[in-house]
Amino acid sequence: MSTFHDDGMSNHSNNMSFHDVLELNQKRRELLKGGVAAATATVVGVPLLTARSNVEAQTFTSTPGIGFKPVPATDADTLVVPEGYRADVLIAWGDPISDNLKFFRYDATNSAEDQEQQWGMHNDGMHFFPFEERALLGRPVPSSRRGLLVSNHEYTDDGILHEDGQRTWTPAKVRKSQAAHGVGIVELLYDGSTWRVVRPSVYARRITGYTPMAVSGPAKGHRLLRTAADPAGERILGTINNCAHGYTPWGTYLTCEENFNGYFANGATIPADQRRYGISATGFGYRWHEHDERFNAALHPNEPNRFGWVVEIDPFDPTSTPIKRTALGRIKHEGAWVTLSPDNRVVVYMGDDERFEYIYKYVSRGFFKPGDRNNNRSLLDDGTLYVARFDENLSGEWIPLVWGQNGLTPENGFADQGEVLVKTRQAADVVGATKMDRPEWIAVNPQTKDVYCTLTNNDRRGNTGQPAVDAANPRGQNVFGHIIRWAEDGQNATARRFRWQLFVQCGDPALGNPARAGNINGDKFGSPDGLWFDDRGILWVQTDISTSIVSRPGNERGDYRNIGNNQMLAYDPISGEFRRFMTGPRGCEITGVISTPDLRTMFVNIQHPGEPASERLTPENPTAISSWPFGGRPRSATVVIRKLDGGIIGT
Ligand code: FEO
Ligand code: CA
Ligand code: CA
Repeated sequence: MSTFHDDGMSNHSNNMSFHDVLELNQKRRELLKGGVAAATATVVGVPLLTARSNVEAQTFTSTPGIGFKPVPATDADTLVVPEGYRADVLIAWGDPISDNLKFFRYDATNSAEDQEQQWGMHNDGMHFFPFEERALLGRPVPSSRRGLLVSNHEYTDDGILHEDGQRTWTPAKVRKSQAAHGVGIVELLYDGSTWRVVRPSVYARRITGYTPMAVSGPAKGHRLLRTAADPAGERILGTINNCAHGYTPWGTYLTCEENFNGYFANGATIPADQRRYGISATGFGYRWHEHDERFNAALHPNEPNRFGWVVEIDPFDPTSTPIKRTALGRIKHEGAWVTLSPDNRVVVYMGDDERFEYIYKYVSRGFFKPGDRNNNRSLLDDGTLYVARFDENLSGEWIPLVWGQNGLTPENGFADQGEVLVKTRQAADVVGATKMDRPEWIAVNPQTKDVYCTLTNNDRRGNTGQPAVDAANPRGQNVFGHIIRWAEDGQNATARRFRWQLFVQCGDPALGNPARAGNINGDKFGSPDGLWFDDRGILWVQTDISTSIVSRPGNERGDYRNIGNNQMLAYDPISGEFRRFMTGPRGCEITGVISTPDLRTMFVNIQHPGEPASERLTPENPTAISSWPFGGRPRSATVVIRKLDGGIIGT
């Protein structure tokens, strides 16, 4: 496909456009200029380290390509990386984030107050914010030795969060579960041989399910956000089900509220607008509503409207108030991936992760201005939200979700733009967007600006009473998932039209079933979820195969029988090959990946090791599936990966 800038599996050449070549040459010139300063920092060895709040992307000239020996698929209860690499736990659920000495207790007797000062449960998307490193004579560069690691804590397994699981149920347990959610911020330092968490650190912070948050954008103060506890609709307690993330060019973190509906229960008649977001009689079994009344969606029908947003956090200011940015819409936000247009408008790509939901993008009205915090702080409040339609002819359109246009009118239930945003899903239904196979992570190729999105799976596609296959979601009962990519017209992220292509369909030819074979060149995988380009252009893919399919003793694992535990792979844009880099312990999901600017350290999140096929682990037998990483109760954890020779990860 000549419209795309690398040819994936169909053609193993790196078919760059003239525009790309010009841009790369410019980047190389910039890097040569910066290279002296970077070298000076290493040689002098006495850099000044300062916290940055305006981290800009680093360009890289290393030759693309992957050089590691792939690891085999496995169902062993261990974490495996290639020969010549090591992976170490940096911080695990329950570890103190600073010097408060609230250590993890393996009998799960830590209190909610302890948990407020500990790494949360089930870490997911994350980002590394480097400090600024300044050599004596050089210009500042982002440090690869010191920075802030910011991670989401998506959800809890209350079967192992509490000493006796949910057998007894108290306000203190609800509080602990809420404290284990949200976001964690720790300061990291590399001493030349080991990465460690800096304790104490003035930056260390936990943001939880009850941290006070501000609201901004068109839905701030909207009648649909007002509650008895917050009649102004401007102050919300907490962020929950923080799945993936994003970060801005002005140095802030975006945490995204995904399956918020699971925390609410509505035992009465459920209104259509709650049903559209999956509010049910019992939720997902968190049972918060039993002791925290605001999660009773019958008594507090607007409380669910206060979740499902993108929340902006300034990790460099530990006193800052997180802000729910309503202009980015209310969906089950997987993540929020930011790129800039050629004229520096801010574009945010976002998926709504549920079967038959949509892909969105936000385009700011204003322009990013490096170093101008006053300007940049409102860029996510004023702009246009669009939803994608993928057409059969491999083109597509971004349809604006603007009140008064495309049927978003009072007659159709939208009184104003605030209501369009609170009811983003209903708005997207009205304008005829394309229903996708569970949009998860989105990644923008740093060189070509092509945009990639994982569509993790959709086992209901084409079933009776469900949407049929279409060009962009071409497989019925799509249990392996696929990755789609698109090129915005003019390589401008603000474009209204794009051209798209199926990048890869996951699967396993050894199954002997053409509908499940897929077309992967290289190591097999399924259910792609995490997706990230490093600055060399290597695409890292992480999988989230449902625990009902794998890692259950005696389970034949069905279509996934040859693929084993969840894993992370690297895709080489030159050869078009996927190669397995890491396999996780049993019952885990691999999610969250980021490197230091020099690409010599990679951080990866291991989420929910030991998760069984049923909903909860039991307190009597917490190690039934896994005892990773340290024996005893399994713990989600962030691992740090280094090459033994100190080289660039993936080479
Ligand atoms: Fe939390 Fe869509 O994964
Ligand atoms: Ca995910
Ligand atoms: Ca997931």
